[in-house]
Amino acid sequence: MEGTLMDAPSKEFALAGSLEELKIKGRLVVHGGHRPILVIYDRGRVFALDNRCPHMGFPLERGSVEDGILTCHWHHARFDLESGCTFDLWADDVPICPVEVRNGDVWVKTNFTHADLAAHWRQRLANGLAHNLDLVIAKAMHGQLAAGVPQAEIVREVALFGAQNRDGWGVGLTILTALANILPVLPEEEAYLALFHGARRVAADCDGEAPRRERAPLGSRPDPAALKRWLRRWTNVRHREAAERTLLTAIAAGLSPAVLADVLLAAETERAFADTGHSLDFINKAFECLDLVGWQHAAALLPTVVGQMVAARGAEESTAWRQPVDLVALCEESTSELADLFAAGRGSRDWSGHAALAQELLGDDPARIVDALKEAIRAGAAPADLGQSLAYAAALRVARFGNANEHADWETAHHVFTYANAVHQMLTRIGTANIDTHVTAVRGVLHGAMALYLARYLNVPPARIPGDGGEQLDDLPTDPETIGAALLDAFDRQRQVDLAARLVARHLTLGHSPQALIATLAHVVLREDAGFHAYQMLEAGVRQFGAWGDTDEGRHILIAVARYLAAHSPTERASLQTADIAHRLMRGGELHQEAGSS
Ligand code: FES
Repeated sequence: MEGTLMDAPSKEFALAGSLEELKIKGRLVVHGGHRPILVIYDRGRVFALDNRCPHMGFPLERGSVEDGILTCHWHHARFDLESGCTFDLWADDVPICPVEVRNGDVWVKTNFTHADLAAHWRQRLANGLAHNLDLVIAKAMHGQLAAGVPQAEIVREVALFGAQNRDGWGVGLTILTALANILPVLPEEEAYLALFHGARRVAADCDGEAPRRERAPLGSRPDPAALKRWLRRWTNVRHREAAERTLLTAIAAGLSPAVLADVLLAAETERAFADTGHSLDFINKAFECLDLVGWQHAAALLPTVVGQMVAARGAEESTAWRQPVDLVALCEESTSELADLFAAGRGSRDWSGHAALAQELLGDDPARIVDALKEAIRAGAAPADLGQSLAYAAALRVARFGNANEHADWETAHHVFTYANAVHQMLTRIGTANIDTHVTAVRGVLHGAMALYLARYLNVPPARIPGDGGEQLDDLPTDPETIGAALLDAFDRQRQVDLAARLVARHLTLGHSPQALIATLAHVVLREDAGFHAYQMLEAGVRQFGAWGDTDEGRHILIAVARYLAAHSPTERASLQTADIAHRLMRGGELHQEAGSS
């Protein structure tokens, strides 16, 4: 009899029934501590499969068999009876298990395991990514984590897929990296959701896209200064191929991540606040992605940012940056002074005026804002210090965002904040060694300060920041669990911006754990069909909170995050449902019955 094994049954096998009974009934279901197993007799052969449809768990025993094809009667996915492989990719393959006929009885192996579980789920993830199948991605993510595959390895698989299957860095890779960055602060059960969202957004980004075409480095190895000049030149004239080959040459020459960051930031800031800050943010994320997946992949990942960088529209092309004050000219004038200013500030390494500088950056006179930056440099502020002040000031724009603004204006505030965070991270990476050679990159701070200035109307009138000046907020709960539950409840309803801010302030002013609060905010994002900006906002906020710690400034930053997220919640939560279905299918339960009994 084909489709059967004649080995002696082991204790892993369960008795399904007699072959005669199976022939009469056509199918039997074996229940037990294992997942339900469907045994089918078809044209002289016996097959055993997971009885739960891999799509949404409908019992396959209620399906029909014709010409070796099993059809589920819920959404009509079709499966090859012998292999379990699906003809409908959205449904996924159904697991099969060995079956034995011995002495007229049918035995099935109750264990569906694969010889190499990690390899099996890696292949499933590759399939899910290639065909943009959320359910397959979710199951593969679950399977890989259960098989003990390190999170960094999963991120690497997805990132390299994203880099190869799309002609340039995109939203998906940014989301993947942002979520991977916060994995260390997430509770273990949230890691699955974070990786799922990152991977599904990369898959969606690549769906239907032309793959990336490889380019080669130059045969020579010019010095870093020449490579930097060339990359600026090619960016200015929008010559993508030349820029990519120049960057690939810099990578092949073994330039350190810090020097590469300087080379790219110098080129990127040839245009001011390009693509409303996204271009610089993507560059920073590509660097952070390499920190996560390993710099041996630099040639595969880093050049993916070049296409957008050379094509980006700079703010210098917009009226607001030229009239009534020429902000671009103001930045250019100051750039020419930067080397001397840093030279004057050298030796004063104990500058700590971050919060005070941030307040000056929020002023309404662009010349005075630029002067404040210059004065800080003269007093010893390093480039990364300027970036930190800028990011905090930008967070305050969000924290004080007036509810009378149009909803779309949240994005204006958001763009400045995530851009400022990216500038801060890039300047931190570049460091202070050989500062004379990389003052050009500090233009990113000047541009960010002008973008922040232009967004000043968002705080007219400013929203109050709860918890300042010793405000107690005694009308709110006291213990962290109740505050957390109230926060989740607030995010379940629209327009709870101020309540969310007050609950965040309440949590922190009572001295409760910031990590628990961050985990709640992460959960708020991960349970939603969040927009791209929500992921960026969460991650930039966590980063900036890390720079300030549990201080007033740190509280302001998390309030900014909570207010933005509250303005964009709730959503349909369709992705959460997919993740939940995958989780329950992988757990082995009889999902359809669970749903029916709930
Ligand atoms: S096709 Fe089987 S549950 Fe949807």
